[in-house]
Amino acid sequence: MNPAKIPVGVLGATGMVGQHFVKFLEGHPWFELTWAGASDRSSGKRYVDATSWRLNGTMPEGVRSLIVEDCKPGNAPRLLFSATDASVATEIEQAFAQAGHVVVSNSRNHRMDPDVPLLIPEVNPDHLKVIPHQQRKRGWKGQITTNPNCSTIVLAMALAPLKKFGIKQVVATTMQAISGAGYPGVASMDINANVIPFIGGEEEKMQQETQKILGDYTGDTIRSLAAQVSAHCNRVPVVDGHTVTVSVAFEQKPSLEEIIAALQDFRSLPQERKLPSAPPQPIIYLSEKDRPQPRRDVERERGMTVFVGRLRECPVLGYKFIALGHNTIRGAAGAAVLNAELMYSEGLLD
Ligand SMILES: NC(=O)c1ccc[n+]([C@@H]2O[C@H](COP(=O)([O-])OP(=O)(O)OC[C@H]3O[C@@H](n4cnc5c(N)ncnc54)[C@H](OP(=O)(O)O)[C@@H]3O)[C@@H](O)[C@H]2O)c1
Repeated sequence: MNPAKIPVGVLGATGMVGQHFVKFLEGHPWFELTWAGASDRSSGKRYVDATSWRLNGTMPEGVRSLIVEDCKPGNAPRLLFSATDASVATEIEQAFAQAGHVVVSNSRNHRMDPDVPLLIPEVNPDHLKVIPHQQRKRGWKGQITTNPNCSTIVLAMALAPLKKFGIKQVVATTMQAISGAGYPGVASMDINANVIPFIGGEEEKMQQETQKILGDYTGDTIRSLAAQVSAHCNRVPVVDGHTVTVSVAFEQKPSLEEIIAALQDFRSLPQERKLPSAPPQPIIYLSEKDRPQPRRDVERERGMTVFVGRLRECPVLGYKFIALGHNTIRGAAGAAVLNAELMYSEGLLD
């Protein structure tokens, strides 16, 4: 172990999102993966024996011989990323927070709790202020912070710079990649040359999470944005990258140029502090008439940037555009690691 680095662990390290954490943390300048937890199917085995590696490239060398542990507090490092199955994440994450761990979770279980930050470091870093209230209310020495659902984060990042124009109504339609369904995900007989117009629970998550993320910290809780948000969620035969078409009504009537400038000029704390996983430009506006596209754009900027394009007038709500983000990087592991980097820079890991 490198003594100059902060030891970190991953709960659910053997699963699909867990593997993305392992890959994303490889070579991280601040964090070193020293601990991996999973179910009793895996505990006691070497990571290499417990895990069917599903990602491109080979399993990082440093993790292969880690012995997988039970997801129970004991010898785990203080900072833990969580990618445990949603059916068990509530109890596991709470047990670790109770025992003094900082849990940075990718699971949906605690996202909508009013005392848990649903964090995008560029968008609502002030929501971290709710943590002391969380600790007092729950009697925890540790804490839980979450990142949004993989399609919500694309929508919320694209809307955040436009909040100053007064967002009134949003209609968002997704075209979501199959990697968002985990492994083995959607059967090939269902998704090949097809569109599936239903993803269980996804529309509700996009609607409620977007309102919470764009909402305000009020002292001991987070008050959701009053804007109406309607989501249509579809699974499409794309491997990586969630595309979202968005129509939006504003209280003010900004010009097209003002909207593009707001998107392009958007910078925030992660950029000011040069956090290791922060993209230099969180949102890139593409002026080509047929971009962004998942195959051409989603891997750019290490998968941490949201690409926006095709801003034009909408005869119903005022304006419409298209946004694209990497669902397993910006929408999962990369999002959580950037959350932890912000928390470290705020002194919350001391
Ligand atoms: N897939 C995505 O793109 C995506 C995106 C955003 C969020 N998420 C969320 O991330 C979480 C993980 O998703 P996933 O697709 O990675 O699932 P997955 O591949 O099924 O992995 C689940 C992980 O949880 C562990 N686990 C299962 N039961 C457990 C138990 N009783 N105690 C301790 N650990 C247990 C598994 O360990 P074993 O290997 O030992 O069974 C595995 O490491 C879920 O909450 C999901 O909603 C997924």
